[in-house]
Amino acid sequence: MAGRLITVEGSEGAGKTTQLAFMRDYLEQHGLTVVVTREPGGTPLSEEIRHLLLSHRHDGMTLDAETLLMFAARAEHLEKVIRPALAAGSWVLCDRFTDATYAYQGGGRGVAQERIAVLENWVQGELRPDWILLFDLPVAVGLARAGKRGAADRFEREDREFFERVRATYLERAAQHPDRYRIIDAQRPVEVVRAEVERLLTDWLEHRE
Ligand SMILES: Nc1ncnc2c1ncn2[C@@H]1O[C@H](COP(=O)(O)OP(=O)(O)OP(=O)(O)O)[C@@H](O)[C@H]1O
Ligand SMILES: [Mg+2]
Repeated sequence: MAGRLITVEGSEGAGKTTQLAFMRDYLEQHGLTVVVTREPGGTPLSEEIRHLLLSHRHDGMTLDAETLLMFAARAEHLEKVIRPALAAGSWVLCDRFTDATYAYQGGGRGVAQERIAVLENWVQGELRPDWILLFDLPVAVGLARAGKRGAADRFEREDREFFERVRATYLERAAQHPDRYRIIDAQRPVEVVRAEVERLLTDWLEHRE
């Protein structure tokens, strides 16, 4: 049986990476083979592209270059990691995916959603995440959490309004795709968020046939 693709979304410091570790443990305890990966990244080439995108070596790169690099990394990642894992029956947990492109390059930087949709269809064909967990929280709370981590990357250096647009775009997409999206209030303590995520996973495990 084909696996499932679960993507984890939300702005900086929302707790995505923290919760992904719990999700992996929980699903493995329930007998599944789990592949945890991230975007941009997940293959040697895609990780190099990630570095190009996040470092300050190319501050001022054009918006089209940024968007196309995201999808170049995604094409490689899908072909080499995600599709083979799904075909083998694994559950793939991906730390950010195409909804992040809609939120950051689209909402944050102003690329038209229709243009992103063209690239999404080109690179992914019919493939969409089975479920998208959106960790939502006020921008200031997330930035305060992420800020404790050290030097800001090319995205983390953006202003407050940028992250407000990112958040608003995620919430709009969640409203447009209620079948796939689950919004989680990420402001609560780690253990409370974890319990809610586990409830969702339990539900999905029960309905997987
Ligand atoms: N529910 C929570 N309450 C308080 N602190 C949290 C919570 N979840 C995570 N944190 C802490 O906030 C920081 C950021 O968490 P994490 O790295 O998981 O966020 P992220 O969404 O992956 O961020 P980024 O988008 O920058 O990768 C970490 O120090 C983490 O321990
Ligand atoms: Mg993270």
